[in-house]
Amino acid sequence: MMYRVLVVDDDRDLRLTVASALSENHFEVDQAENGEEAVNRVTAGKYDLVLLDVNMPKMSGMEALKEIKAHDPSIIVLILTAFANIRDAVESTKEGAYNYLEKPIKADNLVYLVEKALKAHRMVKDIAMSSPVVKLPGGTEFVGQSNEMKKVFSVIDKLSRVDTAVLIRGESGTGKELVAQALHYNSPRKDNRFVTVNCSAIPDNLIESEFFGHEKGAFTGADSRKIGKFQYADGGTLFLDEIGDVTPAVQVKLLRALQEKKFTPVGSNREVEVNVRIIAATNRPLEEMIRKNEFREDLFYRLNVLPIHLPPLRERRNDIDHLARYFIDKFNQAHAKNIIGIAPSTMEYLKAHNWPGNIRELENVIEHSFVIESGNELMPESLPESLLKNYSPQGVDTGRVLKAVAMPQISDDLGSNDSADDGENDSSDLVASLEGLENGFKLNFDKLDFQANKEEFEKRFLISALKRFNGRINQTAIHANIPKKTLLRKLEKYGIVAREYTE
Ligand SMILES: Nc1ncnc2c1ncn2[C@@H]1O[C@H](COP(=O)(O)OP(=O)(O)OP(=O)(O)O)[C@@H](O)[C@H]1O
Ligand SMILES: [Mg+2]
Repeated sequence: MMYRVLVVDDDRDLRLTVASALSENHFEVDQAENGEEAVNRVTAGKYDLVLLDVNMPKMSGMEALKEIKAHDPSIIVLILTAFANIRDAVESTKEGAYNYLEKPIKADNLVYLVEKALKAHRMVKDIAMSSPVVKLPGGTEFVGQSNEMKKVFSVIDKLSRVDTAVLIRGESGTGKELVAQALHYNSPRKDNRFVTVNCSAIPDNLIESEFFGHEKGAFTGADSRKIGKFQYADGGTLFLDEIGDVTPAVQVKLLRALQEKKFTPVGSNREVEVNVRIIAATNRPLEEMIRKNEFREDLFYRLNVLPIHLPPLRERRNDIDHLARYFIDKFNQAHAKNIIGIAPSTMEYLKAHNWPGNIRELENVIEHSFVIESGNELMPESLPESLLKNYSPQGVDTGRVLKAVAMPQISDDLGSNDSADDGENDSSDLVASLEGLENGFKLNFDKLDFQANKEEFEKRFLISALKRFNGRINQTAIHANIPKKTLLRKLEKYGIVAREYTE
């Protein structure tokens, strides 16, 4: 982009010298011979910078400065002054002049100062404009007005410019994946791939090949050569989601790949070199896992160079309103509905809820209400029961509200011996959507065996729940109110592969 500069001086020779020095340095230059002409030109056209003499006929530089700044405060004004008028020049900075230059003007010095002023100015402008805007692909938005999220945005902004590993921490559903995407799509790697590996969804015996690839025949079932995710992400970003779920054996191999930027595919004797940026995420307590020897300290330090912590939604309730409205817009489009807003009493429920599933839970709640709501505003009656039962806002008859949305509840704890670690029971909307579970499940009374029937029920329940949450372990665990460890153990027991339920 070419900057436009206006040179204002009644001394014709000086004007010409200055104008030619700037033109030679790729500025677009206009001239004016007094303050009045300068003001006319500035109000008529678009200038980035004005070089302004002080003593001129008709209108003085000081007066012109005031008028120019009043017209457009973003124009940079540099004062040209003889030593005798240096006091005026100092005064002029109080009126908004950026700086002053002493006559006689040296061309080199002039160009340098003009460039410096424009650069400093542009930086200030960029920072003021860009703070919370982080770009994401496909119209997805990153919503957040709370101070906590503003801090996260500014960290994303900084970290997207470097290549160092980033570890994103935060409870389930707080937006870790969104942060990883924001880092990638705002980085110089944005035109290359963003590749995600969900470490918790891959069986231990396949994870090495998933990361690093394998040669044909490297192990039973490896009937063709396969490229690993590290190589696939070459030049781009590799997002290691749920990094806390990889075994120590795989951790060693990951560490080596991160340190040396090289790895050996399974069954190969040839090293592959790659250039990937690593972003990892987890909601597990890695420090505690290190103490228990479940997570390698050296890998932790390798990843934790630049940590980002996403606060849970209950610690930034200011964002609830904004997020809820964002999701309403989104679902209006998806469901071809036209819900115009949220009733204040509904908002009270949303603000009061503890959101163990964070933003994903909020998104699900809004979608649930969306489907149920028949009016054009989300009323409390359309909220899932779990939100209604813990809070009663003033002026709302909770008894009535509760009856209106009463849904079948599963009272059995499905034989799980672990006590639930996510306090809240959030199964109502899940139960409502377990198609096939109630109808399709026939008790086997030929074999009056409690264990056999219970297992059959568990299996079907887990499959339905996985389908509902798109094969995602964390979400399923939260919404079906089953500790993740128990869920993983049961999936293994029944041979259920979560990934198969991803759409
Ligand atoms: N600040 C936000 N603005 C808009 N949408 C958000 C925001 N944070 C999260 N979301 C949405 O909430 C959902 C959950 O976010 P995401 O998948 O990034 O969470 P996560 O921390 O990776 O969860 P998990 O630990 O369960 O994998 C996504 O649909 C995401 O688009
Ligand atoms: Mg995630």
